[in-house]
Amino acid sequence: MHLEEVRKFDSLKPERVIDLREAICPHPLNVIRDTIRELGDDAVLLAISDHEPTALENAPRFCERRGYPYRVIEQEGLWNIFIQKIEKKEARLRVESVSKVFSARDGKVSALSDINLTIRDGEFVSIVGSSGCGKSTLLNLIAGLDKPTSGRILADGKRVEGPGADRVVVFQEGALFPWLTVVENVEFGLKLRRVAHKIRRELAYDYLKLVGLDDKFHNSYIHQLSGGMKQRVALARALVMEPSILLMDEPFAALDIQTRESLQEELQRIWVESHKTIIFVTHNVEEAVILGDRVLVFTKNPGRIKSEHDIEIARPRKPGNPEVFLNTKWITDEIREDGEDAEAGIREAAG
Ligand SMILES: Nc1ncnc2c1ncn2[C@@H]1O[C@H](COP(=O)(O)OP(=O)(O)OP(=O)(O)O)[C@@H](O)[C@H]1O
Ligand SMILES: [Mg+2]
Repeated sequence: MHLEEVRKFDSLKPERVIDLREAICPHPLNVIRDTIRELGDDAVLLAISDHEPTALENAPRFCERRGYPYRVIEQEGLWNIFIQKIEKKEARLRVESVSKVFSARDGKVSALSDINLTIRDGEFVSIVGSSGCGKSTLLNLIAGLDKPTSGRILADGKRVEGPGADRVVVFQEGALFPWLTVVENVEFGLKLRRVAHKIRRELAYDYLKLVGLDDKFHNSYIHQLSGGMKQRVALARALVMEPSILLMDEPFAALDIQTRESLQEELQRIWVESHKTIIFVTHNVEEAVILGDRVLVFTKNPGRIKSEHDIEIARPRKPGNPEVFLNTKWITDEIREDGEDAEAGIREAAG
């Protein structure tokens, strides 16, 4: 590092100094993230760490992803990590104070309560949480298939009022048309957009190749495919529309482990190549960790975001990687704790 650069940072007085040696939180980066959130724009944070991977790998990756300028300076076995909070202005998606209440026969259900969320362009966000905590409800609201009871959602700065080709959903069961062939399914949306036959065929083949579907199945009907192949087709059908946000609701849940892992690998590759913004709902915490830049943990009654975890593990990530294992364990323990809290709450209420 040039001395000039060190001086430049030295002349910026850190607005806050935190000592990560005292951080008992499972992940020092969560401490950095939460502290930065409290600081004003352009402020400098100085984090002191005695943990080499945090200083030389994880914190730099965290900063690079957000575009924060940073410097790491070693001093007598300690690392001084200077980070400047310069927010990238363009958010791909903003969810602002969104609540959703459903009227059911036996009363009202608060499916989502005061959800606030900003997703940056090109970010991969995973959502986990127990059944009924509002994950699908949130995706439906973002997709414009339903409207929030209060609050608002902005996609590329524009209020979401209904479905749009910029936001496409991939469901657990691909929802493909059984009367069309694979390639016809993929080009269906382009046909509605009146794209010329030759061009849409070419695009459909390109995307089928991208998702790794063997070409001998391109003219098959849907019932002739395995579950994994169907999900590849569903993914190609979504990607061919070139949405800026891809919403995925448990897309791999019904697949066997091998197929699931191979699709996780494929999706990581596609995401790296296409720089798409992806929101991915899953019950599988390991899958959330393998895929996500960030994992949001939802909790229910009412549905809200309980916590979020930055996952700064180098890609491609594989199941069984020790860092994947550790992050998965932290998040799983937290969800389990949440379940116990809820049970205790119910017992209290009943008692
Ligand atoms: N159309 C609806 N009418 C009434 N209640 C609804 C409706 N849709 C969802 N709910 C309720 O809202 C809550 C959240 O549902 P949602 O489907 O979003 O949960 P989820 O987190 O996706 O669950 P899962 O993991 O089982 O898919 C649940 O209590 C559900 O019963
Ligand atoms: Mg759901």
